[in-house]
Amino acid sequence: MTHQVRAVVARAKGAPVSLETIIVPDPGPGEALVRIEACGVCHTDLHYREGGINDDFPFLLGHEAAGVVESVGDGVTDIAPGDFVILNWRAVCGQCRACRRGRPQYCFATHNAKQKMTLTDGTELSPALGIGAFAEKTLVAAGQCTKVDPAASAVAVGLLGCGVMAGIGAAINTGNVGRGDSVAVIGCGGVGDAAIAGSRLAGAAKIIAVDIDERKLETAMAIGATHTVNSRQSDPVEAIRELTGGFGADVVIEAVGRPETYKQAFYARDLAGTVVLVGVPTPEMKLELPLLDVFGRGGALKSSWYGDCLPSRDFPMLVDLYLQGRLDLDAFVTETIALDEVEKAFERMHHGDVLRSVVVL
Ligand code: APR
Ligand code: ZN
Ligand code: ZN
Repeated sequence: MTHQVRAVVARAKGAPVSLETIIVPDPGPGEALVRIEACGVCHTDLHYREGGINDDFPFLLGHEAAGVVESVGDGVTDIAPGDFVILNWRAVCGQCRACRRGRPQYCFATHNAKQKMTLTDGTELSPALGIGAFAEKTLVAAGQCTKVDPAASAVAVGLLGCGVMAGIGAAINTGNVGRGDSVAVIGCGGVGDAAIAGSRLAGAAKIIAVDIDERKLETAMAIGATHTVNSRQSDPVEAIRELTGGFGADVVIEAVGRPETYKQAFYARDLAGTVVLVGVPTPEMKLELPLLDVFGRGGALKSSWYGDCLPSRDFPMLVDLYLQGRLDLDAFVTETIALDEVEKAFERMHHGDVLRSVVVL
């Protein structure tokens, strides 16, 4: 059997996305069909549309989603029809060296559904990050589904599927922020703000938000920052040092992805501090540093890939904290929109007007 559903498709490089009818097959072995309830709009979706990831058009966009399992294929035991799940873009293999060493965050054999969703003329779709959740239903590998408490709002917890998990994980997994720590977060978009929320959860005493946009600094305060620095007005490295007794922050999280902010992060840490790089640079970006400065500091320089998350460990835990009122995921939802408003949401995202627009289905 197949399913005809409405979905948001990027047909050609740079062209506006369109609402299309797509054909979704029933799940094959190891796969699941998920009825999507909500899906956030992420920069990566726009990046796909602009041809910045690869040229495998047409793309089925959307990848920050939660929904209900409608059916599962042969051999699927971890989830069942009716389960409320958050989707992830890293179904780990369990067999590779990284998995066997207990570090599946570094699995190099992650996989997606094998069967293809298509346009009505049979053209195969490339689902964004192997998900494609701006659709009433989508087909994924069962390992891309994590069952969580169904009492939670899909609009809020779907965001854990990508950007918000990247930020929270940068703080609690990669940065290992601890009670009493000082943390500086450079760049307070959805990812940086999530790093602030994660630092707060972890018990950080001081959370310094750095941005060039006053509106972003206000939101950062609402989410849990204790101090703000506008780096258009003052040198962020000096400001962070001043706010930390001259030492620098225990953990500095870079959530922009540019050479100048990488450099600020590098110099704003305490000598024993950790720099966490979660902002994604472009291939041509370079940074030159005196080797003596690299050598002359202790601590650690770490990059954070998907917040170094393990969906099966982190998603249910964070959903529980959300339900207990200890993690305000609703604060990340600037607006809810319909499936045919994704193009408009890209525009608003581009202008920095939103943390997250979330499509509700
Ligand atoms: N200094 C400080 N903040 C800056 C600077 C700068 N030089 N340049 C931009 N910013 C701020 C923007 O004002 C914005 O608030 O960085 C923030 C970036 O946020 P978003 O554009 O909303 O992006 P976000 O979704 O948070 O992702 C940030 O993390 O995972 C990666 O690919 C993602 O590289 C991206 C980064
Ligand atoms: Zn593996
Ligand atoms: Zn994303």
